[in-house]
Amino acid sequence: MMRHFLGSADLTRDTALQMFALAADLKQRWKVGRRGTPLAGRTVALIFEKPSLRTRVTFEVGIVQLGGRAVYLSGHEIGLGTREAVADVARNLSRWVDGIAARVYAHETIETLARHATVPVINGLSDWEHPCQALADFFTLWERGLDLAAMRLAWLGDGNNVCHSVLVLGALLGTSLVVACPPGYAPDERVQAAVRRLGGRLEVTDDPRKAAQGADVIYTDVWISMGQEAEREPRLEAFTRYQVNEAVVAAAKPTALVMHCLPAHRGEEITDAVLDGPQSIVLEQAENRLHAQKAVILSLLGGALDDV
Ligand code: CP
Ligand code: NVA
Repeated sequence: MMRHFLGSADLTRDTALQMFALAADLKQRWKVGRRGTPLAGRTVALIFEKPSLRTRVTFEVGIVQLGGRAVYLSGHEIGLGTREAVADVARNLSRWVDGIAARVYAHETIETLARHATVPVINGLSDWEHPCQALADFFTLWERGLDLAAMRLAWLGDGNNVCHSVLVLGALLGTSLVVACPPGYAPDERVQAAVRRLGGRLEVTDDPRKAAQGADVIYTDVWISMGQEAEREPRLEAFTRYQVNEAVVAAAKPTALVMHCLPAHRGEEITDAVLDGPQSIVLEQAENRLHAQKAVILSLLGGALDDV
């Protein structure tokens, strides 16, 4: 089992599948009223340099449901890397808490936290990856009974942090992957190389309709990620053709599912009709952040499922 969860490549096919099974078990136990407390007396620090709804709430609630406690720290409040070196924050926190989850701007920050912490570190989104999101997303598809190794997932829009995590986890699971993006916004070359090294099937195109054709899943995310607000105008212009709307969804399989990590910018990367339509599973994804992260926390902190 991995020591930290910084990116999808910290998983293997087997550990990802184990995580799905554990998440399903935890979800079921909670739904039938099991209220065991395997994390009793344990504390996880949550560091956020950027805003969040889903990640913050699902970490806090997940830790509480497992009987532990979460301490929320805004990056501004602790002066991560300004008031105090990132390495020193990691060393200090390790003396008090049993795990650290962090949402950061630079991926290097989470790597530095992990290098100097003696407790597990979880990436709650960096500019490079969002592995908890991808884990919850593939858990959602697995739970619905999709054959992950036989399906085609089309990513439309920005080859961003969420895209990176989805591609690498998809490659581990044998999913056929296609990304449609404007020139200059493809997933980073290093991620594409990692996908190929893992034996992944990845096609990159600038044609959104072509990508959507025959897709089992259409996935999109915002065109302007947190921290890119100054690039708003050129990005809106570059991405216009990549909107997930009813015409694009109609090009996919009739059974295709539509995914979005949220928050959505309605009317930009996705229309209301699609986001709120019958093929959208965005709220299942959001719910499953809770169950998937409980599985990650329990695995990394070493809690016993029998105590749940
Ligand atoms: N999907 C996701 O991570 O949402 P938040 O930014 O609200 O945490
Ligand atoms: N790509 C988005 C994801 C938000 C969950 C961002 O980084 O802002």
